[in-house]
Amino acid sequence: MTKYDNNFTDQLRERLSIVDVVSRRVPLKKKGQNYWGCCPFHNEKTPSFSVNEDKGFFHCFGCGKHGDIISFTMETEHVDFKTAIAELADMAGLKLPDYKPKSQQQIDAEESYISITAAAAKMYAEKLFTPDGAHALEYVRRRGFSDEMIKKYGIGYAPKNNIISNKFANTKQEKIIATGLVRRGDYGLYDFFRDKLMFPIFNTHGQIVAFSGRSLDGSEPKYINTTDTEMFHKRQTLFGFNFARESIHRANRAIIVEGQIDAIQMQCHGFGETVAPLGTALTEDHIAILCKANRNIIFCFDGDNAGQKAAARACGLIIPFLRDNSDVRFAFVTGGKDPDEILRRGGAGDMKKIIDDAVPLVDFLWNTANKNFLVNTPSGKTQAEKFINTEIEKINDKLLRSQFAQEYNKRKFNEWHKWKKTPEIVPISVPKTDSVIKNTIIYIVNKYPEIAERYGDFIGGFNLDFNTDVNVDLNLDLKSAEKYLVSLKLQKYIENLELKKREITIGALSNGNDVRDEIRRIDDEIIKMKERFDLLV
Ligand code: UTP
Ligand code: MN
Repeated sequence: MTKYDNNFTDQLRERLSIVDVVSRRVPLKKKGQNYWGCCPFHNEKTPSFSVNEDKGFFHCFGCGKHGDIISFTMETEHVDFKTAIAELADMAGLKLPDYKPKSQQQIDAEESYISITAAAAKMYAEKLFTPDGAHALEYVRRRGFSDEMIKKYGIGYAPKNNIISNKFANTKQEKIIATGLVRRGDYGLYDFFRDKLMFPIFNTHGQIVAFSGRSLDGSEPKYINTTDTEMFHKRQTLFGFNFARESIHRANRAIIVEGQIDAIQMQCHGFGETVAPLGTALTEDHIAILCKANRNIIFCFDGDNAGQKAAARACGLIIPFLRDNSDVRFAFVTGGKDPDEILRRGGAGDMKKIIDDAVPLVDFLWNTANKNFLVNTPSGKTQAEKFINTEIEKINDKLLRSQFAQEYNKRKFNEWHKWKKTPEIVPISVPKTDSVIKNTIIYIVNKYPEIAERYGDFIGGFNLDFNTDVNVDLNLDLKSAEKYLVSLKLQKYIENLELKKREITIGALSNGNDVRDEIRRIDDEIIKMKERFDLLV
């Protein structure tokens, strides 16, 4: 068998949920840790076919069949490996690379890369505890890092001199340059990281593929990261993910913070499920990796304007990944600069409050629309509506999309019209309403929002779902529509007066009160209303 590029198949497995892939053919139901359905490989009536989302494989307890997204696609669609990959790539929205077997040369290159970065990390870690690194050690301790944390995260110090280029002086230059740790200058090789506090960056296999270096003397930029290499792609790497994996599984959620020190401190204060992007805004690749690990995600941003903006961006990115079992929320850090500061000042309790207060995506999107557009003007309302529509259009699941649309239609109607709620003497409750009346009101609300607004209190009492399709054109012009509402309102008012009269009469029969005056007043009101009604129709 040919050896294919493992990177790409790994990427597919990372991007695609096996539940999504299998669900296209086999209806699945979640029970416990696994999803279950009827096995597509043998005949059965009760489900013994299980799918494990985290591990990415399926297993049939009936016939023993076992595999992953690739073998599932090959066998259920009777296609070869290449076709299956092409189809999955399409589903994942990835461009199919040219298929080349991984050459021995490439395997060797990767091995040498990892051995260099591992050796470099070890050197940096040792340097931290030498006199050269004293200021770095003092700095990192001041920031609340215990020796145990320093060890776990492999924190080190890159000194001012060229320790890496010197150490690997006998290695082929290309090999060290490939790691990004060393560059070629006019006077030979020199180290990229100098006088920096060093944070190793691990890939999902737990190998060190890059570093992030923090400046210690206040110089800018504050952080520099290894520039992209064959084995490190910043846009696809989440800092702390290798450590967080287990916790994400256990906590059944992931938390995303903005900074890497924030991620480390969160992990060490009981939020092991926390990760951070690396010096970039979140990318679609980050989201894909997260969603693959868990559909419950809490984004935690700074409480300032930039944080709101970043949150809106993340929201836009994650919408296409939403499923009916996603729970996506947005938390904002207030009362401190970032999670690191919150944890240092108020401890895990304060941070927990912030996380617990996270706003669900449905509300966050609504709030964003309301904040960014002047929804008390017609054009602002239109812009906000367009914004929301564009966003929910991106939801892949049709039913979920229509649920969002319905929810926002309700909110638009209830919140944007803002009719004043003046209490009536006789509350207009609406007892019997047939479907013709209901549909007529929905039709009017959708066609003439301006008059709907005027009768908002009244219409609101019907508790209608304004997202219902009324598939008839009732041909009511604006005037007749308004007349319809007025007469309906009168009619309901009269009905209520009659009801009230009956209640009073029944009450009087049991308690013997004299209610004649009261009844007379109601009768007068009924006559007056009936006259008005006759004038209308
Ligand atoms: P911040 O400026 O919020 O820094 O950048 P921070 O995380 O609070 O850093 P500390 O606590 O002062 O050490 C957030 C993240 O953006 C990236 C880093 O990953 C940082 O954690 N960043 C920031 C860079 O890559 N380069 C920079 O110059 C600044
Ligand atoms: Mn910080």
